[in-house]
Amino acid sequence: LERTFSIIKPDATRRNLTGAINKKFEDAGLRVVAQKRIQLSKAQAGEFYKVHAERPFYDELCEFMASAPIVAQVLEGEGAIAKNREVMGATNPSDAAAGTIRAEFAESVGENSVHGSDAPETAAVEIAYFFSGLELVG
Ligand code: GTP
Ligand code: MG
Repeated sequence: LERTFSIIKPDATRRNLTGAINKKFEDAGLRVVAQKRIQLSKAQAGEFYKVHAERPFYDELCEFMASAPIVAQVLEGEGAIAKNREVMGATNPSDAAAGTIRAEFAESVGENSVHGSDAPETAAVEIAYFFSGLELVG
Protein backbone atom coordinates (compact mmCIF):
# COMPACT_ATOMS: atom_id res chain seq x y z
CA LEU A 1 0.00 0.00 0.00
CA GLU A 2 1.16 3.49 -0.82
CA ARG A 3 1.56 6.33 1.69
CA THR A 4 1.22 10.05 1.18
CA PHE A 5 1.67 13.12 3.33
CA SER A 6 -1.28 15.42 4.04
CA ILE A 7 -1.80 18.69 5.89
CA ILE A 8 -5.12 20.03 7.12
CA LYS A 9 -4.31 23.74 6.79
CA PRO A 10 -4.97 26.64 9.22
CA ASP A 11 -8.16 27.86 7.49
CA ALA A 12 -9.67 24.41 8.09
CA THR A 13 -8.47 23.84 11.69
CA ARG A 14 -9.80 27.34 12.55
CA ARG A 15 -13.25 26.35 11.31
CA ASN A 16 -13.15 23.00 13.17
CA LEU A 17 -13.16 20.95 9.94
CA THR A 18 -10.60 18.27 10.89
CA GLY A 19 -13.24 15.58 11.36
CA ALA A 20 -15.19 16.50 8.22
CA ILE A 21 -11.99 16.37 6.13
CA ASN A 22 -10.89 13.07 7.67
CA LYS A 23 -14.30 11.62 6.78
CA LYS A 24 -13.64 12.51 3.12
CA PHE A 25 -10.31 10.65 3.28
CA GLU A 26 -11.80 7.60 5.00
CA ASP A 27 -14.79 7.47 2.64
CA ALA A 28 -12.30 7.40 -0.27
CA GLY A 29 -10.50 4.38 1.22
CA LEU A 30 -7.56 6.29 2.69
CA ARG A 31 -6.47 5.33 6.23
CA VAL A 32 -5.00 7.90 8.61
CA VAL A 33 -1.89 6.02 9.85
CA ALA A 34 -0.27 8.98 11.63
CA GLN A 35 -1.61 12.35 12.70
CA LYS A 36 -0.56 15.27 14.86
CA ARG A 37 -1.81 18.79 15.49
CA ILE A 38 1.07 21.28 15.63
CA GLN A 39 1.70 24.94 14.94
CA LEU A 40 4.54 25.72 12.52
CA SER A 41 6.79 28.74 12.85
CA LYS A 42 7.01 30.88 9.73
CA ALA A 43 10.56 29.54 9.20
CA GLN A 44 9.35 25.93 9.39
CA ALA A 45 6.54 26.69 6.93
CA GLY A 46 9.13 28.31 4.65
CA GLU A 47 11.33 25.20 4.78
CA PHE A 48 8.37 22.95 3.97
CA TYR A 49 7.30 25.07 0.98
CA LYS A 50 10.80 26.05 -0.20
CA VAL A 51 10.10 24.77 -3.75
CA HIS A 52 7.81 27.80 -4.03
CA ALA A 53 10.39 30.29 -2.69
CA GLU A 54 10.51 32.26 -5.97
CA ARG A 55 6.73 32.45 -6.39
CA PRO A 56 5.06 35.83 -5.69
CA PHE A 57 2.74 34.29 -3.07
CA TYR A 58 5.53 32.60 -1.05
CA ASP A 59 5.62 35.07 1.84
CA GLU A 60 1.82 35.13 2.13
CA LEU A 61 1.76 31.31 2.01
CA CYS A 62 4.31 31.00 4.84
CA GLU A 63 2.45 33.56 6.99
CA PHE A 64 -0.79 31.68 6.44
CA MET A 65 0.68 28.23 7.21
CA ALA A 66 2.03 29.58 10.53
CA SER A 67 -1.14 31.49 11.44
CA ALA A 68 -2.91 28.70 13.36
CA PRO A 69 -2.43 24.98 14.08
CA ILE A 70 -2.21 22.46 11.26
CA VAL A 71 -2.89 18.73 11.34
CA ALA A 72 0.00 16.82 9.75
CA GLN A 73 -0.99 13.35 8.57
CA VAL A 74 0.15 10.25 6.76
CA LEU A 75 -2.55 8.63 4.64
CA GLU A 76 -2.27 5.04 3.40
CA GLY A 77 -4.14 3.21 0.68
CA GLU A 78 -4.10 1.83 -2.84
CA GLY A 79 -2.63 4.59 -5.04
CA ALA A 80 -2.79 6.94 -2.06
CA ILE A 81 -0.93 9.86 -3.69
CA ALA A 82 -3.24 10.12 -6.71
CA LYS A 83 -6.34 9.23 -4.71
CA ASN A 84 -5.61 11.96 -2.18
CA ARG A 85 -5.06 14.55 -4.94
CA GLU A 86 -8.41 13.49 -6.41
CA VAL A 87 -10.26 13.85 -3.08
CA MET A 88 -8.57 17.25 -2.47
CA GLY A 89 -9.63 18.73 -5.82
CA ALA A 90 -7.93 21.50 -7.82
CA THR A 91 -5.70 24.05 -6.05
CA ASN A 92 -8.15 26.85 -6.79
CA PRO A 93 -11.53 25.95 -5.22
CA SER A 94 -13.39 27.60 -8.09
CA ASP A 95 -11.85 24.95 -10.39
CA ALA A 96 -12.36 22.05 -7.97
CA ALA A 97 -14.80 19.28 -8.89
CA ALA A 98 -18.03 18.99 -6.88
CA GLY A 99 -17.70 16.84 -3.78
CA THR A 100 -13.96 17.42 -3.37
CA ILE A 101 -12.54 18.84 -0.14
CA ARG A 102 -11.51 22.11 -1.77
CA ALA A 103 -14.87 22.54 -3.53
CA GLU A 104 -16.70 22.11 -0.23
CA PHE A 105 -14.37 23.78 2.25
CA ALA A 106 -11.62 25.93 0.70
CA GLU A 107 -11.87 29.71 1.04
CA SER A 108 -9.48 30.80 -1.73
CA VAL A 109 -6.57 29.60 -3.90
CA GLY A 110 -4.21 30.30 -0.97
CA GLU A 111 -6.42 29.25 1.94
CA ASN A 112 -7.40 25.97 0.37
CA SER A 113 -7.81 23.69 3.41
CA VAL A 114 -5.44 20.84 2.51
CA HIS A 115 -2.01 19.96 1.19
CA GLY A 116 -1.16 16.62 -0.41
CA SER A 117 2.15 15.30 -1.74
CA ASP A 118 2.39 15.34 -5.53
CA ALA A 119 4.77 12.38 -6.17
CA PRO A 120 6.40 9.40 -4.38
CA GLU A 121 9.69 11.30 -3.89
CA THR A 122 8.01 14.34 -2.31
CA ALA A 123 5.78 12.08 -0.18
CA ALA A 124 8.87 10.35 1.28
CA VAL A 125 10.63 13.66 2.03
CA GLU A 126 7.52 15.27 3.53
CA ILE A 127 6.64 12.26 5.72
CA ALA A 128 10.20 12.16 7.07
CA TYR A 129 10.12 15.93 7.80
CA PHE A 130 7.16 15.50 10.18
CA PHE A 131 7.18 11.89 11.45
CA SER A 132 9.58 9.24 12.71
CA GLY A 133 9.10 5.63 11.61
CA LEU A 134 7.82 4.80 15.12
CA GLU A 135 4.87 7.16 14.65
CA LEU A 136 3.54 5.41 11.53
CA VAL A 137 1.01 2.82 12.60
CA GLY A 138 -0.48 1.05 9.58
P1 GTP B 1 -0.36 21.79 -2.07
O1 GTP B 1 -0.92 20.43 -1.87
O2 GTP B 1 -0.62 22.71 -0.88
O3 GTP B 1 1.09 21.76 -2.50
O4 GTP B 1 -1.24 22.41 -3.24
P2 GTP B 1 -1.12 22.18 -4.80
O5 GTP B 1 -0.08 21.14 -5.12
O6 GTP B 1 -2.51 21.99 -5.31
O7 GTP B 1 -0.62 23.62 -5.28
P3 GTP B 1 0.88 24.17 -5.48
O8 GTP B 1 1.89 23.17 -5.04
O9 GTP B 1 0.96 24.72 -6.84
O10 GTP B 1 0.88 25.42 -4.46
C1 GTP B 1 1.14 25.21 -3.09
C2 GTP B 1 0.20 26.06 -2.28
O11 GTP B 1 0.51 27.43 -2.49
C3 GTP B 1 -1.28 25.96 -2.66
O12 GTP B 1 -1.94 24.87 -2.07
C4 GTP B 1 -1.81 27.27 -2.11
O13 GTP B 1 -2.03 27.20 -0.70
C5 GTP B 1 -0.66 28.22 -2.39
N1 GTP B 1 -0.88 28.91 -3.67
C6 GTP B 1 -0.78 28.40 -4.93
N2 GTP B 1 -1.06 29.33 -5.85
C7 GTP B 1 -1.35 30.46 -5.16
C8 GTP B 1 -1.72 31.80 -5.54
O14 GTP B 1 -1.85 32.11 -6.72
N3 GTP B 1 -1.93 32.69 -4.52
C9 GTP B 1 -1.78 32.35 -3.21
N4 GTP B 1 -1.99 33.26 -2.24
N5 GTP B 1 -1.44 31.11 -2.81
C10 GTP B 1 -1.24 30.19 -3.76
MG1 MG C 1 1.91 21.16 -4.32
